[in-house]
Amino acid sequence: MERWLVKVRASAPAKVILCGEHAVVFYEPAIAMAINRKASVTVEERRDQTIYIRSRNLGVSGRYERREFKPGAGGLAAKPKLDPIRMAVIKTLELTKEKVGLNLSVNSDIPVAVGLGSSAAVAVATIAATGKLLGIKLRKEKICSLAYEVEKLVHRHPSGVDNYISTYGGITIFRRSEKLVPLKVHANIPLVIGNTGISRSTGELVGHVRKLKENHPDVINPVLSAIGQLSVSAAQALQEGNLRRLGELMDVNHGLLSALGVSNDALDRLVYAAREAGALGAKLTGAGGGGCIIALAMPDTIRRVEKAIRRAGGTVMIAKKIDRGVEAW
Ligand code: PMV
Repeated sequence: MERWLVKVRASAPAKVILCGEHAVVFYEPAIAMAINRKASVTVEERRDQTIYIRSRNLGVSGRYERREFKPGAGGLAAKPKLDPIRMAVIKTLELTKEKVGLNLSVNSDIPVAVGLGSSAAVAVATIAATGKLLGIKLRKEKICSLAYEVEKLVHRHPSGVDNYISTYGGITIFRRSEKLVPLKVHANIPLVIGNTGISRSTGELVGHVRKLKENHPDVINPVLSAIGQLSVSAAQALQEGNLRRLGELMDVNHGLLSALGVSNDALDRLVYAAREAGALGAKLTGAGGGGCIIALAMPDTIRRVEKAIRRAGGTVMIAKKIDRGVEAW
């Protein structure tokens, strides 16, 4: 009997790291929060075995006929952008014996390669949509672990924090290899994101910190464990709704990330502009080397902080916490 050809959609949120990036790679805790930007993926079945992928926001497309890549929009340069999405599809297809072809359409309002977890959100949404289309009951745990496999392809040695937050949503104190519980945070966390517009490779920056740690373990290990301690204190501040304390810890975290060599002039300019405009705290978020900063700003200073970041050369987004993670329908 012929099967109905169906169409399924899924979406997954972006994230910011409030504190603890880089140290989290070395098993220290970090705090991450899902935000109100998302990647959406639509999947439909085809009658052949081709996997066709189109990324509407990146303006690229291509088809995979068995292992061969046939470029569409964007030419051969599209391949490295589409390969991780194909990998997310393949990992999901491996869970069944079915041999199906698929059309995937990806759309996202998450800026790419600036530390907001775009690749993880696309992987998570792709896996959830493909799984649902195939009728596989995928628990969040499974979606998260498959997305981690894809993240390893993109970022080499990621901690897994991006795919975790994108799957589950909310705010979590994340530690590698530990069972995690979401933090109960009632306070609104008013964040201004400042984007330097400079893209960079998370894998390379993580590699830089690893090398620094190997060359100077006596110096760098205490910096990493201070960042971990800072995340524990920040979790407490968040739960108490003490945003002033959280802001102070964010400032310290930025200093320690600078010590690891992952900040730069563009990031520092945005951080200092935000602080001078009255932010409670400001720091780079994600891997650094470009990408974004986050500034914690109360309602009465938020406009001033936004303006100061723009004047210092950044583009601005207001981030709100999102409790929902991945959803498929
Ligand atoms: O890819 P980004 O910029 O969101 O950075 C992720 C945070 C790091 O701690 C630097 C790497 C990781 O895998 O946790």
